[in-house]
Amino acid sequence: MDIKNKIAIVTGASSGIGEATARAFGREGAKVVLAARRVDKLQTLAQEINSMDTGTETLVIQADLSKLEDIQSMIAQTLEKFKRIDILVNNAGFGRLDWLENLDPIKDIQAQIDLNILGVIQTTRQVLPVMMEQRAGSIINMCSMAGLVATPTYTVYAASKHAVHGFSEALRREVKPWGIDVSLIYPGGVVTEFTQHAGIKRKTNARTPKSMLLTAEQVANAVIKLVKRPRRMLIIPWLWSVTVFMNRLLPGLVDYTTIKRFTIPEREDELKIR
Ligand SMILES: NC(=O)c1ccc[n+]([C@@H]2O[C@H](COP(=O)([O-])OP(=O)(O)OC[C@H]3O[C@@H](n4cnc5c(N)ncnc54)[C@H](OP(=O)(O)O)[C@@H]3O)[C@@H](O)[C@H]2O)c1
Repeated sequence: MDIKNKIAIVTGASSGIGEATARAFGREGAKVVLAARRVDKLQTLAQEINSMDTGTETLVIQADLSKLEDIQSMIAQTLEKFKRIDILVNNAGFGRLDWLENLDPIKDIQAQIDLNILGVIQTTRQVLPVMMEQRAGSIINMCSMAGLVATPTYTVYAASKHAVHGFSEALRREVKPWGIDVSLIYPGGVVTEFTQHAGIKRKTNARTPKSMLLTAEQVANAVIKLVKRPRRMLIIPWLWSVTVFMNRLLPGLVDYTTIKRFTIPEREDELKIR
């Protein structure tokens, strides 16, 4: 797909990957709909994109994407201004990464399900009739390595991203005949605000190696490439594919090493007390 003059909705555009993706669409000359809750951040970004000399335009929409009425309003406003929707990047999402018994049933568990799963499904559901009518469209769903390999403290987040994986796989096979492409992207660790909201309490140094960390711009560039040349799935950095392969081929070994190298060292004190 040639991106110039196309209408692209980017959810979660107020920071991190979404912000970088919206900027990248602006550079390509697309008309970009910026959606998230922090409208001041969206407006600042919109000003920056509008000043690009690429023929780009923006529409800022304050929306809580865990709420159906906000999603419906976002689509209605987009159609009112631009009349069509060519690209949807379902990016808004967050993770609360702690032991399951520490997660708050509503603020952590329900909220992740509402945004990461239902937000993606309901937004796609609202956009789909428009793309079907057009007989064209590109949907990019922001998954995660946690959508392929689930690690301790990622229970609910991993469940939500596995759901995005299953949803997108079925959708891709449903809508391809209508000229709509569905691509999934699985980034490893990305340096964004994500960790600030995740509530991680690590005792050990168990972290993504620095050499494997991505910038939001790298993920944004990958999104642009997927719009231009859709793919079923894209794992970045590529090296994480080895972990996916190991998890499929030797899950018992991955269980053993994860428990020995992560779960037990992290919980050693609690295990002794109990
Ligand atoms: N960072 C990583 O390591 C990583 C790795 C793999 C995948 N991902 C995925 O990448 C996506 C973007 O994350 P990020 O790393 O860029 O994190 P981020 O900087 O925290 O961005 C999250 C975005 O989602 C928006 N958002 C959160 N709750 C929302 C709600 N209820 N309604 C509307 N928007 C909401 C935030 O905007 P407001 O707060 O203004 O609403 C923000 O724009 C997520 O789906 C995440 O799961 C991240």
